[in-house]
Amino acid sequence: MEIGEGHIWFKSRRSARRICAWVMSMCLLLSATLLAGCGTKELGTQEETQSQETQQIVVGFSQLGAESDWRSANTESMKSTFTAANGYKLLIEDGQQQQANQIMAIRKFIQQDVDYIVLAPVTETGWDTVLQEAKDAQIPVIIVDRQVAVEDPELFCCWVGSDFELEAKKATAWLHQFAYTKGIDESQLHIVNIQGTIGASAQIGRTKGLQDAVAAYGWDLLAQVPGEFTQAKGKEAMEALLEQYENINVVYCENDNEALGAIEAIEEAGRHVGSDILHGDIMVMSFDGVNQNVMQYLLKDKISFVGECNPHHGPRVQNIIQLLEAGKTPEKYSYVEERVYTHDATVPSVEVDGVNYSVTVMTKETLQEFK
Ligand code: AHR
Repeated sequence: MEIGEGHIWFKSRRSARRICAWVMSMCLLLSATLLAGCGTKELGTQEETQSQETQQIVVGFSQLGAESDWRSANTESMKSTFTAANGYKLLIEDGQQQQANQIMAIRKFIQQDVDYIVLAPVTETGWDTVLQEAKDAQIPVIIVDRQVAVEDPELFCCWVGSDFELEAKKATAWLHQFAYTKGIDESQLHIVNIQGTIGASAQIGRTKGLQDAVAAYGWDLLAQVPGEFTQAKGKEAMEALLEQYENINVVYCENDNEALGAIEAIEEAGRHVGSDILHGDIMVMSFDGVNQNVMQYLLKDKISFVGECNPHHGPRVQNIIQLLEAGKTPEKYSYVEERVYTHDATVPSVEVDGVNYSVTVMTKETLQEFK
Protein backbone atom coordinates (compact mmCIF):
# COMPACT_ATOMS: atom_id res chain seq x y z
CA MET A 1 0.00 0.00 0.00
CA GLU A 2 1.22 3.48 -0.87
CA ILE A 3 1.01 4.85 2.65
CA GLY A 4 3.03 1.96 3.99
CA GLU A 5 5.72 2.38 1.34
CA GLY A 6 5.99 6.11 1.95
CA HIS A 7 6.15 5.45 5.63
CA ILE A 8 9.13 3.09 5.35
CA TRP A 9 10.96 5.75 3.34
CA PHE A 10 9.91 8.30 5.89
CA LYS A 11 11.16 6.20 8.81
CA SER A 12 14.58 5.77 7.26
CA ARG A 13 14.65 9.50 6.55
CA ARG A 14 13.87 10.14 10.21
CA SER A 15 16.54 7.69 11.33
CA ALA A 16 19.05 9.48 9.12
CA ARG A 17 18.02 12.80 10.59
CA ARG A 18 18.45 11.45 14.10
CA ILE A 19 21.88 9.99 13.35
CA CYS A 20 22.94 13.37 11.92
CA ALA A 21 21.64 15.18 15.01
CA TRP A 22 23.42 12.72 17.28
CA VAL A 23 26.73 12.98 15.39
CA MET A 24 26.52 16.78 15.45
CA SER A 25 25.77 16.91 19.16
CA MET A 26 28.67 14.51 19.86
CA CYS A 27 31.05 16.75 17.87
CA LEU A 28 29.86 19.82 19.76
CA LEU A 29 30.24 18.11 23.11
CA LEU A 30 33.71 16.89 22.22
CA SER A 31 34.94 20.33 21.19
CA ALA A 32 33.37 21.88 24.30
CA THR A 33 35.21 19.36 26.47
CA LEU A 34 38.51 20.07 24.79
CA LEU A 35 38.12 23.85 24.86
CA ALA A 36 36.58 24.42 28.27
CA GLY A 37 37.89 21.39 30.08
CA CYS A 38 34.58 21.19 31.89
CA GLY A 39 33.44 18.27 34.08
CA THR A 40 32.40 15.08 32.30
CA LYS A 41 29.44 14.52 34.67
CA GLU A 42 27.64 17.66 33.47
CA LEU A 43 28.39 16.84 29.87
CA GLY A 44 27.04 13.35 30.37
CA THR A 45 23.68 14.78 31.49
CA GLN A 46 23.50 17.13 28.50
CA GLU A 47 24.34 14.26 26.21
CA GLU A 48 21.56 12.12 27.71
CA THR A 49 18.98 14.91 27.31
CA GLN A 50 19.97 15.50 23.69
CA SER A 51 19.91 11.81 22.95
CA GLN A 52 16.42 11.47 24.52
CA GLU A 53 15.19 14.36 22.39
CA THR A 54 16.49 12.83 19.18
CA GLN A 55 14.69 9.58 20.05
CA GLN A 56 11.36 11.36 20.56
CA ILE A 57 8.59 11.04 17.99
CA VAL A 58 7.53 14.55 16.99
CA VAL A 59 3.76 14.99 16.52
CA GLY A 60 2.30 18.21 15.11
CA PHE A 61 -1.36 18.54 16.15
CA SER A 62 -3.59 21.05 14.40
CA GLN A 63 -6.52 21.44 16.79
CA LEU A 64 -9.46 23.32 15.28
CA GLY A 65 -10.25 25.53 18.26
CA ALA A 66 -11.51 25.71 21.84
CA GLU A 67 -15.23 26.18 21.24
CA SER A 68 -16.66 23.60 23.64
CA ASP A 69 -16.12 21.42 26.71
CA TRP A 70 -15.74 18.51 24.30
CA ARG A 71 -12.88 20.28 22.54
CA SER A 72 -11.07 21.03 25.83
CA ALA A 73 -11.35 17.36 26.82
CA ASN A 74 -10.04 16.34 23.40
CA THR A 75 -7.02 18.67 23.61
CA GLU A 76 -6.31 17.41 27.12
CA SER A 77 -6.43 13.80 25.92
CA MET A 78 -3.80 14.58 23.28
CA LYS A 79 -1.59 16.48 25.73
CA SER A 80 -1.69 13.77 28.37
CA THR A 81 -0.92 11.05 25.82
CA PHE A 82 1.87 12.63 23.79
CA THR A 83 4.21 13.43 26.67
CA ALA A 84 8.00 13.37 26.80
CA ALA A 85 7.71 10.52 29.32
CA ASN A 86 5.84 8.51 26.67
CA GLY A 87 8.54 9.29 24.10
CA TYR A 88 6.86 12.13 22.21
CA LYS A 89 7.27 15.80 21.52
CA LEU A 90 3.84 17.36 20.88
CA LEU A 91 3.52 20.62 18.97
CA ILE A 92 -0.02 22.04 19.14
CA GLU A 93 -1.48 24.82 17.01
CA ASP A 94 -4.96 26.20 17.81
CA GLY A 95 -6.83 26.98 14.59
CA GLN A 96 -9.36 29.26 16.34
CA GLN A 97 -12.15 27.84 14.15
CA GLN A 98 -10.47 29.09 10.96
CA GLN A 99 -9.48 26.65 8.25
CA ALA A 100 -6.85 29.14 6.99
CA ASN A 101 -5.12 28.94 10.40
CA GLN A 102 -5.15 25.15 10.25
CA ILE A 103 -3.64 25.16 6.76
CA MET A 104 -0.89 27.50 8.01
CA ALA A 105 -0.27 25.16 10.95
CA ILE A 106 0.12 22.14 8.67
CA ARG A 107 2.60 24.05 6.49
CA LYS A 108 4.52 25.00 9.63
CA PHE A 109 4.64 21.34 10.71
CA ILE A 110 5.95 20.39 7.27
CA GLN A 111 8.70 23.01 7.60
CA GLN A 112 9.50 21.73 11.08
CA ASP A 113 9.80 18.26 9.56
CA VAL A 114 7.62 16.61 12.20
CA ASP A 115 7.23 12.82 12.20
CA TYR A 116 3.42 12.80 12.12
CA ILE A 117 0.72 15.39 11.55
CA VAL A 118 -2.59 14.99 13.39
CA LEU A 119 -5.43 17.10 12.02
CA ALA A 120 -8.79 17.78 13.72
CA PRO A 121 -10.41 19.61 10.77
CA VAL A 122 -12.93 22.39 11.38
CA THR A 123 -14.93 21.52 8.24
CA GLU A 124 -14.76 18.71 5.70
CA THR A 125 -13.79 20.38 2.42
CA GLY A 126 -10.78 22.40 1.24
CA TRP A 127 -7.92 20.16 2.41
CA ASP A 128 -6.67 18.64 -0.87
CA THR A 129 -3.81 21.08 -1.56
CA VAL A 130 -2.24 21.16 1.89
CA LEU A 131 -2.61 17.40 2.41
CA GLN A 132 -0.89 16.87 -0.94
CA GLU A 133 1.96 19.04 0.39
CA ALA A 134 2.22 16.83 3.49
CA LYS A 135 2.16 13.72 1.31
CA ASP A 136 4.90 15.15 -0.92
CA ALA A 137 6.95 15.75 2.24
CA GLN A 138 6.35 12.08 3.17
CA ILE A 139 4.73 13.00 6.49
CA PRO A 140 1.82 10.72 7.44
CA VAL A 141 -1.36 12.62 8.33
CA ILE A 142 -3.82 11.16 10.83
CA ILE A 143 -7.28 12.74 10.82
CA VAL A 144 -9.10 12.84 14.14
CA ASP A 145 -12.70 13.66 15.20
CA ARG A 146 -14.33 15.26 12.11
CA GLN A 147 -13.57 13.96 8.64
CA VAL A 148 -12.05 15.44 5.47
CA ALA A 149 -13.68 15.14 2.05
CA VAL A 150 -10.73 14.83 -0.37
CA GLU A 151 -10.56 13.60 -3.96
CA ASP A 152 -7.66 11.22 -3.25
CA PRO A 153 -8.14 9.10 -0.12
CA GLU A 154 -4.38 8.45 -0.03
CA LEU A 155 -3.85 12.06 1.03
CA PHE A 156 -4.33 10.95 4.62
CA CYS A 157 -3.23 7.84 6.39
CA CYS A 158 -6.36 7.14 8.44
CA TRP A 159 -9.16 8.63 10.52
CA VAL A 160 -10.50 8.00 14.03
CA GLY A 161 -13.64 9.54 15.52
CA SER A 162 -17.40 9.33 16.05
CA ASP A 163 -20.21 8.21 13.80
CA PHE A 164 -22.15 11.45 14.01
CA GLU A 165 -25.04 10.25 11.90
CA LEU A 166 -25.44 7.17 14.09
CA GLU A 167 -25.51 9.45 17.14
CA ALA A 168 -28.38 11.35 15.49
CA LYS A 169 -30.22 8.18 14.51
CA LYS A 170 -30.13 7.02 18.13
CA ALA A 171 -31.42 10.43 19.28
CA THR A 172 -34.30 10.51 16.81
CA ALA A 173 -35.20 6.85 17.45
CA TRP A 174 -35.39 7.79 21.13
CA LEU A 175 -37.61 10.84 20.47
CA HIS A 176 -39.92 8.78 18.26
CA GLN A 177 -40.25 6.10 20.92
CA PHE A 178 -40.61 8.67 23.73
CA ALA A 179 -43.50 10.42 21.95
CA TYR A 180 -45.20 7.10 21.20
CA THR A 181 -44.94 5.92 24.83
CA LYS A 182 -46.28 9.23 26.17
CA GLY A 183 -49.17 9.28 23.70
CA ILE A 184 -47.86 12.34 21.86
CA ASP A 185 -48.79 12.43 18.19
CA GLU A 186 -45.82 12.91 15.80
CA SER A 187 -47.44 16.10 14.44
CA GLN A 188 -47.43 17.55 17.96
CA LEU A 189 -43.62 17.67 18.01
CA HIS A 190 -42.60 21.24 17.12
CA ILE A 191 -38.84 21.13 16.80
CA VAL A 192 -36.07 23.70 16.39
CA ASN A 193 -32.57 22.57 15.44
CA ILE A 194 -29.56 24.56 16.68
CA GLN A 195 -26.85 23.32 14.36
CA GLY A 196 -23.10 23.14 14.86
CA THR A 197 -20.44 24.72 12.66
CA ILE A 198 -21.86 24.40 9.16
CA GLY A 199 -19.82 22.00 7.04
CA ALA A 200 -18.31 20.13 10.02
CA SER A 201 -18.90 16.37 10.05
CA ALA A 202 -20.53 16.62 13.48
CA GLN A 203 -23.05 19.11 12.07
CA ILE A 204 -23.58 17.25 8.80
CA GLY A 205 -24.28 13.89 10.49
CA ARG A 206 -26.44 15.22 13.30
CA THR A 207 -28.48 17.46 10.99
CA LYS A 208 -28.97 14.66 8.46
CA GLY A 209 -30.16 12.25 11.14
CA LEU A 210 -32.77 14.76 12.26
CA GLN A 211 -33.92 15.66 8.74
CA ASP A 212 -34.33 11.98 7.84
CA ALA A 213 -36.48 11.40 10.94
CA VAL A 214 -38.57 14.50 10.19
CA ALA A 215 -39.24 13.10 6.72
CA ALA A 216 -39.99 9.62 8.08
CA TYR A 217 -42.24 10.57 10.99
CA GLY A 218 -43.81 13.84 9.85
CA TRP A 219 -42.50 15.93 12.77
CA ASP A 220 -42.94 19.70 12.57
CA LEU A 221 -39.41 21.08 12.03
CA LEU A 222 -39.88 24.81 12.60
CA ALA A 223 -36.35 26.07 11.96
CA GLN A 224 -32.67 25.16 11.59
CA VAL A 225 -30.14 27.78 12.65
CA PRO A 226 -26.37 27.65 13.20
CA GLY A 227 -25.05 27.76 16.76
CA GLU A 228 -21.36 27.12 16.01
CA PHE A 229 -21.10 24.60 18.88
CA THR A 230 -20.77 27.43 21.44
CA GLN A 231 -22.83 28.38 24.48
CA ALA A 232 -23.02 32.05 23.47
CA LYS A 233 -24.33 31.29 19.98
CA GLY A 234 -26.69 28.63 21.35
CA LYS A 235 -28.26 31.22 23.64
CA GLU A 236 -28.43 33.87 20.93
CA ALA A 237 -30.05 31.44 18.50
CA MET A 238 -32.62 30.27 21.07
CA GLU A 239 -33.56 33.83 22.03
CA ALA A 240 -34.34 34.61 18.40
CA LEU A 241 -36.26 31.34 17.93
CA LEU A 242 -38.42 31.94 21.02
CA GLU A 243 -39.39 35.34 19.68
CA GLN A 244 -40.29 33.85 16.32
CA TYR A 245 -42.15 30.67 17.34
CA GLU A 246 -44.58 30.28 20.22
CA ASN A 247 -45.13 26.55 19.90
CA ILE A 248 -41.56 25.17 20.21
CA ASN A 249 -41.56 22.08 22.42
CA VAL A 250 -38.30 20.33 21.40
CA VAL A 251 -34.84 21.90 20.97
CA TYR A 252 -32.42 19.59 19.18
CA CYS A 253 -28.99 21.05 19.97
CA GLU A 254 -25.96 19.66 18.17
CA ASN A 255 -23.77 19.84 21.27
CA ASP A 256 -23.96 20.40 25.02
CA ASN A 257 -22.61 23.92 25.04
CA GLU A 258 -25.37 25.04 22.68
CA ALA A 259 -27.84 23.25 24.98
CA LEU A 260 -26.57 25.18 28.02
CA GLY A 261 -27.02 28.44 26.10
CA ALA A 262 -30.50 27.42 24.92
CA ILE A 263 -31.56 26.56 28.50
CA GLU A 264 -30.47 30.01 29.68
CA ALA A 265 -32.53 31.64 26.93
CA ILE A 266 -35.61 29.49 27.63
CA GLU A 267 -35.55 30.20 31.37
CA GLU A 268 -34.90 33.90 30.88
CA ALA A 269 -37.97 33.97 28.61
CA GLY A 270 -40.00 32.58 31.53
CA ARG A 271 -40.54 29.15 29.99
CA HIS A 272 -39.98 25.80 31.70
CA VAL A 273 -37.34 23.33 30.51
CA GLY A 274 -38.26 19.64 30.75
CA SER A 275 -39.77 16.60 29.08
CA ASP A 276 -43.44 17.21 30.00
CA ILE A 277 -44.10 18.77 26.64
CA LEU A 278 -47.85 18.12 26.74
CA HIS A 279 -48.00 20.60 29.64
CA GLY A 280 -45.88 23.41 28.23
CA ASP A 281 -42.30 22.21 28.79
CA ILE A 282 -39.60 22.73 26.19
CA MET A 283 -37.51 19.56 25.94
CA VAL A 284 -33.78 19.93 25.31
CA MET A 285 -31.82 17.20 23.50
CA SER A 286 -28.08 17.29 23.06
CA PHE A 287 -24.80 15.52 22.19
CA ASP A 288 -21.38 15.09 23.89
CA GLY A 289 -21.82 14.30 27.61
CA VAL A 290 -18.20 14.87 28.56
CA ASN A 291 -18.44 16.11 32.15
CA GLN A 292 -20.45 16.26 35.37
CA ASN A 293 -21.40 19.87 34.83
CA VAL A 294 -23.50 18.93 31.81
CA MET A 295 -24.59 15.47 32.93
CA GLN A 296 -26.19 16.86 36.10
CA TYR A 297 -28.70 18.63 33.82
CA LEU A 298 -29.98 15.17 32.92
CA LEU A 299 -30.70 14.44 36.58
CA LYS A 300 -32.85 17.59 36.75
CA ASP A 301 -34.54 16.92 33.37
CA LYS A 302 -33.20 20.23 32.09
CA ILE A 303 -31.61 18.17 29.33
CA SER A 304 -33.67 15.04 28.61
CA PHE A 305 -31.37 13.22 26.19
CA VAL A 306 -27.58 13.24 25.61
CA GLY A 307 -25.98 11.22 22.81
CA GLU A 308 -22.42 10.53 23.91
CA CYS A 309 -19.61 11.86 21.72
CA ASN A 310 -16.32 10.55 23.05
CA PRO A 311 -13.40 13.05 22.97
CA HIS A 312 -10.63 10.85 24.37
CA HIS A 313 -8.79 10.27 21.12
CA GLY A 314 -5.20 10.68 22.40
CA PRO A 315 -4.61 6.96 23.16
CA ARG A 316 -6.35 5.99 19.89
CA VAL A 317 -4.03 8.20 17.86
CA GLN A 318 -1.07 6.82 19.81
CA ASN A 319 -2.11 3.27 18.87
CA ILE A 320 -2.18 4.29 15.22
CA ILE A 321 1.30 5.82 15.48
CA GLN A 322 2.62 2.70 17.19
CA LEU A 323 1.21 0.57 14.35
CA LEU A 324 2.88 2.82 11.78
CA GLU A 325 6.16 2.72 13.71
CA ALA A 326 5.96 -1.07 13.56
CA GLY A 327 5.49 -0.88 9.78
CA LYS A 328 1.85 -1.98 9.96
CA THR A 329 -1.17 -0.45 8.22
CA PRO A 330 -3.93 0.84 10.50
CA GLU A 331 -7.63 0.64 9.61
CA LYS A 332 -8.53 3.53 7.30
CA TYR A 333 -11.61 4.45 9.39
CA SER A 334 -12.01 3.63 13.10
CA TYR A 335 -15.34 4.45 14.74
CA VAL A 336 -15.64 4.90 18.49
CA GLU A 337 -18.44 3.15 20.41
CA GLU A 338 -20.74 5.55 22.22
CA ARG A 339 -23.60 5.44 24.69
CA VAL A 340 -26.95 7.15 25.12
CA TYR A 341 -28.00 8.91 28.35
CA THR A 342 -31.48 10.04 29.36
CA HIS A 343 -33.36 11.66 32.22
CA ASP A 344 -35.79 8.80 32.75
CA ALA A 345 -36.54 5.21 31.75
CA THR A 346 -39.46 5.93 29.39
CA VAL A 347 -37.43 4.38 26.56
CA PRO A 348 -35.21 1.49 27.76
CA SER A 349 -33.42 0.95 24.43
CA VAL A 350 -33.38 2.20 20.86
CA GLU A 351 -33.09 0.27 17.63
CA VAL A 352 -31.12 1.68 14.71
CA ASP A 353 -30.60 -0.22 11.45
CA GLY A 354 -31.42 -3.50 13.17
CA VAL A 355 -29.02 -2.96 16.09
CA ASN A 356 -30.29 -2.50 19.63
CA TYR A 357 -28.60 0.11 21.86
CA SER A 358 -29.34 0.25 25.57
CA VAL A 359 -30.23 3.59 27.14
CA THR A 360 -28.51 4.63 30.39
CA VAL A 361 -30.69 6.59 32.81
CA MET A 362 -28.65 9.23 34.60
CA THR A 363 -28.51 8.66 38.36
CA LYS A 364 -26.42 10.20 41.14
CA GLU A 365 -24.20 7.09 40.99
CA THR A 366 -23.74 7.27 37.20
CA LEU A 367 -22.94 10.96 37.53
CA GLN A 368 -19.88 10.02 39.63
CA GLU A 369 -18.38 8.35 36.54
CA PHE A 370 -17.91 11.81 35.09
CA LYS A 371 -15.36 14.40 36.24
O1 AHR B 1 -16.61 17.36 16.31
C1 AHR B 1 -17.07 17.07 17.59
C2 AHR B 1 -17.94 18.18 18.04
O2 AHR B 1 -17.18 19.36 18.05
C3 AHR B 1 -18.50 18.07 19.44
O3 AHR B 1 -19.74 17.48 19.49
C4 AHR B 1 -18.65 19.51 19.78
O4 AHR B 1 -18.89 19.77 21.11
C5 AHR B 1 -17.37 20.04 19.28
O5 AHR B 1 -17.31 21.38 19.20
